[in-house]
Amino acid sequence: MQKVTCIAPVNIAVIKYWGKSDEDLVLPLNDSLSGTLSTDFMCAKTTISTSPALEVNKFWLNGIEQSFENERLLNCLKEVKRRANQTLPHLNWNISICSENNFPTAAGLASSAAGYACLVSALAALYEIEGDISAIARRGSGSACRSVYGGWVQWCKGASPTGEDSIAKQIAPASHWPQMRVLILVVNDERKKYSSTSGMKRSVETSELLQYRATKIVPQRIEAITKAIINKDFQAFAQITMEDSNQFHAVCLDTFPPCVYMNDTSHAIVDVVHAYNDFKKSNKVAYTFDAGPNACLYLLDSEVEEVLSVIDYVFPPVVNSEGYLKGIPLSKKAITEELKAVFEAKRQNFGALKYVIHTRIGDGPKTLTNPEDHLVDEMGLPKKMC
Ligand code: DP6
Repeated sequence: MQKVTCIAPVNIAVIKYWGKSDEDLVLPLNDSLSGTLSTDFMCAKTTISTSPALEVNKFWLNGIEQSFENERLLNCLKEVKRRANQTLPHLNWNISICSENNFPTAAGLASSAAGYACLVSALAALYEIEGDISAIARRGSGSACRSVYGGWVQWCKGASPTGEDSIAKQIAPASHWPQMRVLILVVNDERKKYSSTSGMKRSVETSELLQYRATKIVPQRIEAITKAIINKDFQAFAQITMEDSNQFHAVCLDTFPPCVYMNDTSHAIVDVVHAYNDFKKSNKVAYTFDAGPNACLYLLDSEVEEVLSVIDYVFPPVVNSEGYLKGIPLSKKAITEELKAVFEAKRQNFGALKYVIHTRIGDGPKTLTNPEDHLVDEMGLPKKMC
């Protein structure tokens, strides 16, 4: 039995991908750009095993068996096999895929991006694929192509109708801007939202603003934010990030019927960030929201403690909420009297936030070589099952 185990990161876009020109090939209407988050605190992990004794293909996600007849999964597998070393004896054996996320999938955090980047990385290692694999990960989920690289990553929409040039490229490694931090504010919200895939399809069909955004706005923004990242210009980076998040959600509202992803807590977070930046007289924090109510804040390490003191004050956690602050450890700082005066009127009810993850920009997928890291046993069955 051959086994390969990989981990892959989550990424958070600062210029959003929203809308496809080709549903099957997963070709986007515009370029997008993201920061890849450290795998230390959030990642997908996948073990793929193969043996001539496996009678059927199998797939487990978070300990629950899934159907293998999943079009996106099959597209990735087909593409990988086409590019594989054709002399490999195991090329035509059945496989078992076992995947897990080390963060709650239900929280609506970019789990499909990490999941497909991980799947494709593991398949690429198993079948000895050389070169860029982002175009293959893209077939699983568009945003997954950006999780194939670490640091700051641009997904270039490409021009070829076959999608061969619709690939991701790293514009700067994680080490380029080591002061950058990310706070993920997980909003307490149980409502099930419609998926990105169906939401963006509806936007393509009904939103004129989407067409304007894709052709007239995004190209300049990609150029400007790339420059801001290269120059480590946080002021400009934050401005463009917030504007793009707002425009993406404006497109969602311009969709008919509208896609409403942000909730009252999300809007309260936007308000707090602007009040904080006003108080500081410059952009010290940037928010961005994907297709859900959770906020992702980009900020520099020098600002984290104070921003968290404000977040804790405005969104007080429920009493004894153990594990409320996850990720990079931090000593909590009490809010200053001056900031209290600014934020007093904005205070929300206890428990509006479920928890906060404090993380940083990190590297791309990795292959794990320690046999203990494999998620499956000698029979190719998950060690943990639900
Ligand atoms: C709002 O990559 O999940 O997170 O390609 O249909 O799988 P599919 O969509 P997906 O969309 C992500 C949209 C977004 C913005 C972004 O990550 O760029």
